Amino acid sequence: PQLAIVLGTRPEIVKLAPIIRECRDRDVPHIVVHTGQHYSPQLTEVFFDELELPPPDHALGVGSATHGEQTGSMIAGIEEVLLEADPETVLVQGDTNTTLAATIAASKLDAELGHVEAGLRSDDRGMPEEVNRIICDHTADRLFAPTPAAAENLRAEGVPSDRISVTGNTVVDALQRHRGLAADRTAVLDDLGVEPGEYGLLTLHRAENVDDPDRFADLLTGVGRVAREYEMDVVYPAHPRARKKLEDLRVPNAVEVVEPLDYLEFLRLESDASVILTDSGGVQEEACVLGVPCVTLRENTERPETIAAGANRLGGVTPTGIFETAREMVGTDAEWENPFGDGDAAARILDAAAATDADGADDSAA
Ligand code: UD1
Ligand code: UDP
Repeated sequence: PQLAIVLGTRPEIVKLAPIIRECRDRDVPHIVVHTGQHYSPQLTEVFFDELELPPPDHALGVGSATHGEQTGSMIAGIEEVLLEADPETVLVQGDTNTTLAATIAASKLDAELGHVEAGLRSDDRGMPEEVNRIICDHTADRLFAPTPAAAENLRAEGVPSDRISVTGNTVVDALQRHRGLAADRTAVLDDLGVEPGEYGLLTLHRAENVDDPDRFADLLTGVGRVAREYEMDVVYPAHPRARKKLEDLRVPNAVEVVEPLDYLEFLRLESDASVILTDSGGVQEEACVLGVPCVTLRENTERPETIAAGANRLGGVTPTGIFETAREMVGTDAEWENPFGDGDAAARILDAAAATDADGADDSAA
């Protein structure tokens, strides 16, 4: 095949789906390799269904383990597939252990490596994601930066300009395709007993936030205060990592913990929320594109474009910080511009990936 697309987690499925679809539309020979980093049906199968993707060509079924063990098994599995399939280009997305494993496997083979969503930086090496993205960015042959700022981060670290293309983020491609369908999912609001514009939406799953019980408790306390101030319910579709830790914590009454939602239901809930509170990368972007004010429950973000736009603020990880930041954001008019492109990122990425020499890189695209 011309392309091997490697994915393994929920956000990679969402953000690579537009590229897989574009490959199908253009008849680009390709294979999709699923590492199995995520395996619960609610984190993987439902996304293949809703995003109308065929099942992966190779499913490695790696599952959960320590970073080293998980990454190591994925490297071995991906290498085996790549040796057999001999693709011209391997595409990876984002900053997960799946991204890291495919980066290492591809870097020792003939294939070119392309990194989708390159150049993001939180400048926090304590996050496994930051380490993963730095290794990938400095290994890949082609870097698809979603924004000019991400491209600038790469150049500042010495990555040659001719490897970098500014493409927009495929999160916008996915939103444009599915937003209309999500609008029909009214039942999710009824099921949860919430009214449009009168509830908050919460996601928390980052290791540094949920693995430490004191920190997780502080975050929930802050969210509980926001809910009381605005007399609103807060819906929390909890990632399995967080769900396990929640068993030992006191969850404020106004916070309704539910199972992870499928993509269309989640988009619907995002669109109609009065505020989104999150530590997710993709959710910060989606809130910005959908015009919903966002408070990021972290001390830093690798999506500073959302803050510059006025769509997002860092609430930090203390109850007071979260409460005060939410008071600044709730009720904000969504008059900001979407910094993540026009929904043609997948097409630009395939154009750039198909260019066989460095002349294909183009900084002026988005
Ligand atoms: C991973 C990514 C993170 C990304 C997130 C998307 C890394 C280092 N982290 O975090 O950047 O934001 O995916 O959601 O790659 N589990 C299940 N079912 C599953 C998968 C996981 O129950 O299908 C539970 C297991 O207890 C597992 C834990 O969640 O140990 C963590 O899973 P893991 O894949 O290691 O990291 P995520 O927290 O999902
Ligand atoms: N998402 C979803 N259902 C949920 C929570 C998130 O469909 O219950 C989607 C969301 O729309 C976004 C992606 O999952 O596209 C974000 O994934 P996640 O927060 O797990 O990872 P991150 O972006 O932080 O790496």
